[in-house]
Amino acid sequence: MAITILAIESSCDDTSAAIVREGVVLSNVLASQEVHRDYGGVVPEIASRAHQIHIVPVVDQALRKAGIRPDEVHAVAFTKGPGLIGSLLVGVSFAKAFALSLDIPLIEVHHLQAHVLAHFAEDPKPSFPFLCLTVSGGHTQIQIVRDYLDMEVIGRTIDDAAGEAFDKTGKMLNLEYPAGPVIDRLAAQGAARFEFPEPQIPGLDFSFSGLKTSILYFLKKQVQESPEFIEQNLCDICASVQARIVSILMKKLLLAARTTGIKDIALAGGVAANSGLRMALDQEGKRQGWNTYIPRLEYCTDNAAMIGIAGYYKFQKGDFSTQEAAPVARWEP
Ligand code: KG4
Ligand code: ZN
Repeated sequence: MAITILAIESSCDDTSAAIVREGVVLSNVLASQEVHRDYGGVVPEIASRAHQIHIVPVVDQALRKAGIRPDEVHAVAFTKGPGLIGSLLVGVSFAKAFALSLDIPLIEVHHLQAHVLAHFAEDPKPSFPFLCLTVSGGHTQIQIVRDYLDMEVIGRTIDDAAGEAFDKTGKMLNLEYPAGPVIDRLAAQGAARFEFPEPQIPGLDFSFSGLKTSILYFLKKQVQESPEFIEQNLCDICASVQARIVSILMKKLLLAARTTGIKDIALAGGVAANSGLRMALDQEGKRQGWNTYIPRLEYCTDNAAMIGIAGYYKFQKGDFSTQEAAPVARWEP
């Protein structure tokens, strides 16, 4: 039997469904919610309502694209958390109803574990054990990945996530939400000539709140002296902020590689789409003799394919959920 899984992701503002057969992605459909741009961030209530509108057509399209009938699906994998509870609730309820109607099992998936397993969507795949720097809008952590479902978090942010640092800087600069991709694009045309301080956090943990404050005070002071400062220096400010965020991430990744002796190094999560970070990993990898792995953009940002891959490995272990399954906003893996 070729195990066929319908996967649902709805933890934040993207509704996604995928069909994964024997660990191979047959379809991966995504509906993004543009509406949050007007508010400068995700509005949970609006996100939840938009998921309700998108979920049925997105699942329908995922089945059609894969050429799979509903009765050919063996299990439904869904994101249980962490995430926005109202958003998760839509995906979990849909998954439960779909599974109940076909009398097939449910598989609950941890969103961050799934980001790591996005590496198994395509070749080249990392070999175990590897280190994964998972950087998204809500999380920043380094995991030792010993097996598909055996991961240990060895470093995490003590305050903001790296994606938040991008998005909050964007708000200060009056950029569109999410600001990560915008800053990335503008940074490519600028020079990192403004120096922002590096946090002094011991060990493998991260901190981004001090950086956020220093950017705010820097901009306030410069704008007081010259009201046109931001408009005139936008690309250089973006390049400087991006360079500092990337250097904070790379410093800890280097330390993690040194302390564990692991040379297979991977990036995951939405911020892994950042060209500065991708380039920095590539260059450091060449210097250190690492094998580096970065998923294609489609598999870095939120997507259901990664949920389906996690679901596939859980299916093999017989790790099923029940109709009692409920979403969780926070979830330590
Ligand atoms: O993993 P993801 O899609 O959703 C969460 O689970 O949070 O990550 C979204 C985050 C946002 O903060 C967004 O600004 C950031 O990823 N992001 C980027 C880039 N593309 C997305 N940050 C920097 N550079 C990018 N190119
Ligand atoms: Zn994510």
